[in-house]
Amino acid sequence: MVNTLQQRTGTTLLVMWILLAIVNLIYTNYPNFNPIKMLPAPKNESSFNFTILLYAPPIYPKNYYKIDFLKKCVFHNCKISFDRSLLRYSDAVIFFYKEITFKPPYKFPNQTWILTNFEAPNFKSPGKYIKYFEFDWTMSYRQDSDVYVPYGIIKESRIHAKKNYSSIYAMKTYDVAWIVSNCKTKFRREEYVEKLSRYIDIDIYGKCGWNSCRGSSIFQCKQRLSKRYKFMLAFENSLCKDYLTEKIFHLYRENIDIIPIVRGAPNTEEHLPNNTFVLVSDFKSPKDLAHRLKTIGGNETLYTEMLKQKDKYTAFSDPNEETGIWGLCRACQLLNDNYQSNKTMDIAKWLSGRSCILPSDL
Ligand SMILES: *[C@@H]1O[C@H](CO)[C@@H](O)[C@H](O)[C@H]1NC(C)=O
Ligand SMILES: *[C@@H]1O[C@H](CO)[C@@H](O)[C@H](O)[C@H]1NC(C)=O
Ligand SMILES: *[C@@H]1O[C@H](CO)[C@@H](O)[C@H](O)[C@H]1NC(C)=O
Ligand SMILES: *[C@@H]1O[C@H](CO)[C@@H](O)[C@H](O)[C@H]1NC(C)=O
Ligand SMILES: *[C@@H]1O[C@H](CO)[C@@H](O)[C@H](O)[C@H]1NC(C)=O
Ligand SMILES: *[C@@H]1O[C@H](CO)[C@@H](O)[C@H](O)[C@H]1NC(C)=O
Ligand SMILES: *[C@@H]1O[C@H](CO)[C@@H](O)[C@H](O)[C@H]1NC(C)=O
Repeated sequence: MVNTLQQRTGTTLLVMWILLAIVNLIYTNYPNFNPIKMLPAPKNESSFNFTILLYAPPIYPKNYYKIDFLKKCVFHNCKISFDRSLLRYSDAVIFFYKEITFKPPYKFPNQTWILTNFEAPNFKSPGKYIKYFEFDWTMSYRQDSDVYVPYGIIKESRIHAKKNYSSIYAMKTYDVAWIVSNCKTKFRREEYVEKLSRYIDIDIYGKCGWNSCRGSSIFQCKQRLSKRYKFMLAFENSLCKDYLTEKIFHLYRENIDIIPIVRGAPNTEEHLPNNTFVLVSDFKSPKDLAHRLKTIGGNETLYTEMLKQKDKYTAFSDPNEETGIWGLCRACQLLNDNYQSNKTMDIAKWLSGRSCILPSDL
């Protein structure tokens, strides 16, 4: 009886703590991705409204953009709408790149048109209608977007848990895990993994492998595997500038004691802290990489130094992967600030594959 009560109190406290942590993260991070720069105080909220119209939202996943999303923003005076008949009354209009399959509607004066894209450019040229659109802002994972919406951000960790790295290391009896669901990619991810697996053991989880990792989410699966494995592949499906997804940021969250092996954006080093990951492009061949992994993985000092370094950081990636909220909150802030983009962007170029490289590691 006493035990149960204690457990219940403990659980309640834990849940409250987690909620507080999430609220804290939302309020400190959604609107501004530079943790150092603080937000200006919100302007008088009740005195103006902005409507952000998602004129061409992505088809996937259903109900992804919830009407009350913007409640979580620092600025509460924006609302989103999906009702195209409100075009005339909309302050900002969002078009997802992939959904632009029509000629532009009438652009009302003082309306901000936002071109949005969260997927890697895939060497396909943009659709034929896009050139008729006059966009004012871009919103994407690219750092040069007006509304920069990364899949995650790395911050210095404020939690300094004392861990027994020796015992963490001792638990790790396996080398490399890979969780993957998209089996064939243009950037020959699977081919690289196949070659790497000739030199070091790789266990493949998910749709493309033999092992299944049960858990209510991919993140929980990663957490479980991180206890037994030394390394986890964080291989993006594309090798494009700034394109780092939750595949990578997940592994920087708290209590994931695993070293990521990253194959992704050519400028990955700009986004991740030094000596906390292994970068595939540093190696001439899968064989060389495997050799290095064995050196690190076989040397407790070397390996745990990396873990310790990684523990100095944490990633804030949206807990529900609702990357869209960040973007909309940020867009709302920029509307409030009457932000004027001064970028002259070649949209077609920006969207085409020219920010991507072909793999040279095979
Ligand atoms: C904000 O707006 C409300 C209603 O329009 C007004 O009563 C209040 O004085 C304003 N506050 C500030 C700080 O301007
Ligand atoms: C803001 O929106 C509310 C509700 O939609 C409306 O009643 C109010 O008049 C709007 N205020 C302004 C300044 O447009
Ligand atoms: C556009 O905005 C400017 C400045 O905010 C304002 O002076 C102008 O009247 C607006 N034009 C229209 C058509 O709303
Ligand atoms: C850490 O774990 C190792 C192996 O599990 C154990 O031998 C050692 O005593 C532990 N060290 C501390 C400081 O608890
Ligand atoms: C990261 O590490 C490399 C090699 O260890 C070093 O050359 C580079 O200066 C470091 N970069 C930063 C930002 O510390
Ligand atoms: C392990 O790595 C450390 C740090 O680089 C090095 O000093 C040590 O000699 C290595 N141990 C072995 C057994 O190679
Ligand atoms: C564009 O705006 C940024 C800040 O908003 C400013 O630092 C930069 O100098 C501007 N560039 C041009 C070409 O006006």
